[in-house]
Amino acid sequence: MPVVDVHTHMYPPVYMDLLRSRDKVPYVKSFPDDPSAGDRLVILPAEDTASTSRGRPIGSEYWDVQEKLAFMKKHDIDISVISLANPWLDWLPSAEAAATARKVNDDVERMCAEHEGKLYAFGTLPLSAPAEEVIAEIERLVTLPHHRGIVIGTSGLGTGLDDPALDPIYAALEKHGQLIFLHPHYGMPTSVYGPRASDYGHVLPLALGFPLETTIAVTRMLLSGVFDRFPKLNVLLAHSGGTLPFLAGRIESCIAHDAHLRKKGKLDGRRDVWNVLKTNIYLDAVIYSEVGLKAAIDASGADRLMFGKCSSFRLEFWLLIMAGTDHPFFPPLDEGDTEWLSVKMNSDAVDAALGKGQKFASAVMGDNAMRILRLHG
Ligand code: URA
Ligand code: ZN
Repeated sequence: MPVVDVHTHMYPPVYMDLLRSRDKVPYVKSFPDDPSAGDRLVILPAEDTASTSRGRPIGSEYWDVQEKLAFMKKHDIDISVISLANPWLDWLPSAEAAATARKVNDDVERMCAEHEGKLYAFGTLPLSAPAEEVIAEIERLVTLPHHRGIVIGTSGLGTGLDDPALDPIYAALEKHGQLIFLHPHYGMPTSVYGPRASDYGHVLPLALGFPLETTIAVTRMLLSGVFDRFPKLNVLLAHSGGTLPFLAGRIESCIAHDAHLRKKGKLDGRRDVWNVLKTNIYLDAVIYSEVGLKAAIDASGADRLMFGKCSSFRLEFWLLIMAGTDHPFFPPLDEGDTEWLSVKMNSDAVDAALGKGQKFASAVMGDNAMRILRLHG
């Protein structure tokens, strides 16, 4: 059974050069007042202070493809679908974005080609550039043999993924069958974490800010009718959809009870949340527990299960979830540990929810990705 990691990041050398050339977020540098801390990756606004130990440590595991391959070998991962890590190119001046996207995507394509059968990629879009340039890059990505879709944050062109100005971009993605890997970065406003947030390291923004950000972004897509206008658009949601599987019922109920939406005629003939979840949405399995993974499994087909359809239906709903690691984030805290706890937590969750080595566990661990992303080992 092939094991495929669909949620795994790199900052290719071209992008590292950009991060090292800056001293505003996002940036990478070391601090003379704290030389033992080494190079620090500072990408979140809330990390740009000494009180959060200034970002996170960064080493060659972020940019060296040999480190990625060694990590894969250690954890029995056959194929990785790598994506540029946040904050992608969201912050680049418009005039530089398209050329930078081409360089980053070409750098990643080169790495994949040099390790045929081991590496594929989700491309990066120059979202601060004019729409024609974004579309041109989508069309160019289709021609890169190892690219299988695109990674995107929640800000879109600056005001979120419910922005009608994204329609030509969604149309291009739908037309070319390019999967969107939707990944958080911005979290929640830091004020929600309270005045003592810096006592708690990165726990609140990463454990809660990220998943809520994803949930809000995809709900806004849904509410603005993106999936009605682009019924074939496919989105892979990071971190098992944030909190979407757990909250889908509540979101659906709030829509069904909203007088404003009804007055505007938006309840007529709409596709409900469950329908979009099952038709347009894929989820990764980066949720670190059986409980969360079971919610994701149920959300991708709970009603088919509840209506007691035969076992062939069961096959269908487990086909929507794909394994991931989030490497090189969440490394072990102790240097001697070569096996990553974060990886084990996710694979243990798959085993516990679906039975180690069983058909549906194999589907989640690799077969689904092989089929959905058209991979060849
Ligand atoms: N932290 C990040 O900033 N990005 C990830 O993908 C995971 C953790
Ligand atoms: Zn990630």
